[in-house]
Amino acid sequence: MKGLLTLSDLKTEQILDIIHYALELKQGLSVSYENKKMATLFFENSTRTHYSFITAMMNLGIKVIDFNSAISSVSKGESLYDTIRTFEALGMDGIVIRHPKDEYFKELEKIQIPIFNGGDGASHHPTQSLLDLMTIYEEFQSFQGLKCCIIGDISHSRVAHTNIEVMKRLGMEVYISGPKEFDDGSAAYIPLEQAINCADILMLLRVQFERHKEKMKMSTLEYHQSFGITKKKTEQMKSKAIILHPAPVNRGVEIADDVVECDKSRIYKQMTNGVYIRMAVISMVLDGKL
Ligand code: CP
Repeated sequence: MKGLLTLSDLKTEQILDIIHYALELKQGLSVSYENKKMATLFFENSTRTHYSFITAMMNLGIKVIDFNSAISSVSKGESLYDTIRTFEALGMDGIVIRHPKDEYFKELEKIQIPIFNGGDGASHHPTQSLLDLMTIYEEFQSFQGLKCCIIGDISHSRVAHTNIEVMKRLGMEVYISGPKEFDDGSAAYIPLEQAINCADILMLLRVQFERHKEKMKMSTLEYHQSFGITKKKTEQMKSKAIILHPAPVNRGVEIADDVVECDKSRIYKQMTNGVYIRMAVISMVLDGKL
């Protein structure tokens, strides 16, 4: 299948190429695809990924159709495959999809046009991981040997699962921390204090209540007291260490209000970088370079 479904499909050199191209676009490189049409189909709520993909397409001169599932024939029982096949028949040059089902794209193998995965279940979020990597690269100019600790609801997080695989491949040391009930063994677990002291990158995650089959064992207040990153805790971080968060953030739960935009936070820079990463990915796929 064409497009970008998972980062595991890409070689490490291709990941680095995307980041370097996104940096060139951020520095002002201009490319245009004015004869292209694409559609965004979000079957799960989103602010950043949805509108950042649309912004990226607008920056590239691509005409965009923004599908609204609630007023579509999905309500009449139309399948995902038939919906996407329809957009292919309408002449789209590419489609962005977010869907709550893990690896929904396995149902779409007969689709010929590129598909850009905007997140599937708790499995993959390739462009989020790429924008995280771009933000890290801008800060440290390298990945080798950096320590990243991902804190929070690891087991329900496609961001954590995507990042852990690719960060290890790029030579980073990746650890997880937070409530033990969310430790799914996807990386080595370390206590929070150790994570705060040793990490070059602290990546915080929202508790994803909407995916929970069982109620979290602690209250949100208890979570904040035990695992939330407060201004006081940031003072124990290395001097050049940074805080990332894919957002949306839950202020007062995993992150204190005054940490969201503190000196160490790169949360809004991540969002800005997301536009350039998505421009880079779309451009490379449309040019047949990915
Ligand atoms: N980071 C992220 O995927 O945010 P949205 O759910 O708002 O797209």
